[in-house]
Amino acid sequence: MLGRSIILAGRPTTLLAEADTRLVDSPLPILVDGQALMRTSILAMDPVTRVIAVADIGHAPPIEIGKPLRSFGAGTIVQSRSDRFPTGMRLSGFIDWSEYQIIDEASAVKPIPIAVSFEEALTLHDHTAMAAYFGMRDVGAVRSDETVLVTGSAGAVGSVASQIARIMGARVGGTASGPEKCGWLTKSLGLDFAIDYRHQNVAHSLSRLCPNGINLLFDNVGGTLQDQVVPYLAPNARIVSCGSSAHFLTSTPLAGLKPRTDLGGISVLSFNAMDYRAQFPRAAAAMSTWRAEGRLIFPHQVVNDLEHAPDALNMLFDGRSRGRLLVMLDRGESAVGGHQSANGGRT
Ligand SMILES: NC(=O)c1ccc[n+]([C@@H]2O[C@H](COP(=O)([O-])OP(=O)(O)OC[C@H]3O[C@@H](n4cnc5c(N)ncnc54)[C@H](OP(=O)(O)O)[C@@H]3O)[C@@H](O)[C@H]2O)c1
Repeated sequence: MLGRSIILAGRPTTLLAEADTRLVDSPLPILVDGQALMRTSILAMDPVTRVIAVADIGHAPPIEIGKPLRSFGAGTIVQSRSDRFPTGMRLSGFIDWSEYQIIDEASAVKPIPIAVSFEEALTLHDHTAMAAYFGMRDVGAVRSDETVLVTGSAGAVGSVASQIARIMGARVGGTASGPEKCGWLTKSLGLDFAIDYRHQNVAHSLSRLCPNGINLLFDNVGGTLQDQVVPYLAPNARIVSCGSSAHFLTSTPLAGLKPRTDLGGISVLSFNAMDYRAQFPRAAAAMSTWRAEGRLIFPHQVVNDLEHAPDALNMLFDGRSRGRLLVMLDRGESAVGGHQSANGGRT
């Protein structure tokens, strides 16, 4: 029996080009003691996959040419020679872009509780929602009397972070590509304003919309957009530096921090959601309650079939993605447990 994988065929220089990846068939491996075979159901697209296709960033090993690309995802054990990973166990973690893969002690996976669906494991319970929760609440310490701007606010982290700031009572704006996405931010996610940074003049918009300045910038993208926002920060504002997607489409490793002389008394706070791992249950409980009350949704978009995963990864960078972007390899299995998503709109 054969399983398909998407392997890295060349190092991308900007968006993934056709020649950078290849869809290959490989025979399923024969298990040895301690191993199990997982059938992948869903891959969640992460900007970091584009980074580790070209660079070693330390905490996630780079992808070798000829090896499968990797991102977060979930699947079910279908054969096992391991007591730890029995047949039928569902797992999520940082996995290969392969229909079938070996799972063993070294795999970066964890079991999905019975009441949690695959979609929930990759939205409500994953590192993007956790980055939104801890970044906005604990690191940013958002307050109800503040004006907050979230860059990349239609993305996986930004869409949840924006809603959490709104739930905390703040006045919240976001940036996104195109008028349709901006309309979605205000109408569906309840943001107070949205700026189409690709077509609108960001400086003019901010001077009109934030006359007293921005108290908290939750930044997912960095780059020139950050440069455009900094002059509109209020005295003693905080920048929660969550991510830097604007720097990810390069062919070289990320450069270090650039020195800024324009920040005055502004604090820049960086964090890694995984440092809050022990507190994830607290965050999941709070976000589940808000969801049950109809105050928080976990927007996600679905792309079908492994062969479309490379284009799906590009969608994170060219303005086409909305919320968490999930590539479905096996729709049937994703229906196990918990809440279901209707059509890629919410979890
Ligand atoms: N600190 C942590 O623990 C942590 C955890 C998870 C993720 N992250 C980081 O946080 C960032 C967001 O993650 P995510 O999963 O939400 O990614 P995502 O779903 O791809 O969202 C990022 C958004 O940024 C926007 N964007 C992309 N390139 C841009 C550019 N050049 N200029 C301005 N906007 C651009 C995109 O949409 P629009 O163009 O429509 O705005 C996209 O929706 C990433 O950098 C990721 O690595 C950090």
